[in-house]
Formats: sequence, structure tokens, C-alpha cells
Amino acid sequence: MMRARSDRMRRQYKTIVLIPTMGFLHEGHLSLIKEGHKHGDDMAVSIFVNPTQFGPEEDLESYPKNLERDLELLQEEGVDAVFTPDAKEIYGNKFQTYVTLEKLPNYLCGLSRPIHFRGVATVVAKLFNTVKPHVAVFGRKDYQQLVVIRQMVRDLDFGIEIIGAPTVREPDCLAMSSRNKYLTSEQRISALSLYKSLQKAKELIKSGVQDAATIIDWATELIQSYPETDIDYIAICDTETLVDIQIIDRPVQMALAVRIGKARLIDNMLLNP
Ligand code: PAF
Repeated sequence: MMRARSDRMRRQYKTIVLIPTMGFLHEGHLSLIKEGHKHGDDMAVSIFVNPTQFGPEEDLESYPKNLERDLELLQEEGVDAVFTPDAKEIYGNKFQTYVTLEKLPNYLCGLSRPIHFRGVATVVAKLFNTVKPHVAVFGRKDYQQLVVIRQMVRDLDFGIEIIGAPTVREPDCLAMSSRNKYLTSEQRISALSLYKSLQKAKELIKSGVQDAATIIDWATELIQSYPETDIDYIAICDTETLVDIQIIDRPVQMALAVRIGKARLIDNMLLNP
């Protein structure tokens, strides 16, 4: 049905924009839709909690859902089509073809989530084939995901323009995420340490520090000074290859993941010396 609709839109010379989501929408998602409206005139949003991107110990079963509210929000945002497939529709039976990238998943989140980017790339490829967008918008908060999708689109000639939209933050600067829901009020304070460490890195660079290890040490100490924080990684890396950088003599990406209680939170920032 979605495929036939997209063919119809394309025959009417509409520019289709896709925003892939896993639902439980927040301001961050709505900002992707607002960005999307600038790039096309037929707005499609998919809502699908993709099982293949969750590891066995992860939160697939408890991932928050509220489809009714999501649909209301999407209507308010002027979305033209909502695609809400179930796992059977996406993976059918005896599914066995996956999209795997050789290098990009070997860094950052990929190290502790070994099957994650294979699941993301596969489902996004399938969503692209079904919704047939001209443009797709992804949040820069999931920086590695954005880089993976851009690479896949280039490598497999999807011919889709990929837009990276800025991270939307709560008033206290915590990056918006559906997983913030897992935090208790004490853990919510500890969660601010992610952004604070990125800000600290920015200050250090401004004051002339160029050594990535020094910045990572500062960030580690800052985050560990908050209760219940368990650092997964803190990295300063090349913006495209995600390979670690030792000396910051050009724009680099700082990215981190921290477990706090039941939540695994990520954040990142471009550091410009
Ligand atoms: O960013 C997400 O919500 C998901 O990883 C995505 C892109 C919808 C694929 O399942």
C-alpha cells in the first residue's frame, strides 16, 4: 500500500521526504519533521520498533510506545502519510538478507552494540525501498547512525538526499531521547554530565588544549563525579571515518555513551579548534 502510494506521489512530481522513527515521539522527532518540510512536499513518517537493531540484553521489550499520541502529533505537524508496519511485514518469514558495513560499526556504539548498525542499515534500506523518498532526515544526536546511513546510501546508490538535523535539547541541555523516560529524578541530574563534559571539551579547546587524551580524561572525571554513571565510551574522532584522533588540529567529533540506571544515553558535539 505504501509503495503504491509513493508511486502515485512520484507520478504527481511530489518530492517525498521520509522521517524514520521508532515512535514515542518527542520534540526531537518533531524538529526532524519541521526540517523535512523544507525539503519536500510529501511528508512520510515511519514508526517501527526494529527488533534487529536490539541486542539480546537490550530494551526491545520495554521500549516505550504511545501510537495514539504519536498519530495526533503527526497530524498536528502536517504529515501526509504514516507507515506503521509490523515485524512480519518488514521481515516476513525466513528473512536472511542484511546490510552490513565493513568499518563504521567497528567504532563508538558499535563496540558495545555489535549487531546494532546491521539492524539499522537493513531496516532503513527496506524503508527506503518501500517509501521511495527523495530525501530522508536523521538526527545528529545519533551521529554514528547518520554517518552509517550516508555511507550506505553512497555505497548502494540509493540516490536519496540525507539531511542531518541538529540535536534538540531539554531546557537544561539534556539531549532529547525516548530513553530519558527510564531515568529517575536523581539519575536525570547525573544525565546532565554528558552535555557538561562536551561543554568542558569545548572550553578546553578554546583555551588551547589540542591533546584528545587530556580532554577525554577531563570528561571521564567529570562524568564519574556524578552518581550511578557508568561510561561506555568517550571518543574524539574523525567526523567521517570515526577513527580516533590524537591531536585536535581540525574539526573533530566528540561522542560518548554513558549508562545511567536502565538508560544508555548518547550525545556528541563537533569540536572546532
Ligand atoms: O533512530 C531511530 O529511531 C532508528 O534507529 C531508525 C533510524 C528509525 C531505524 O530503526
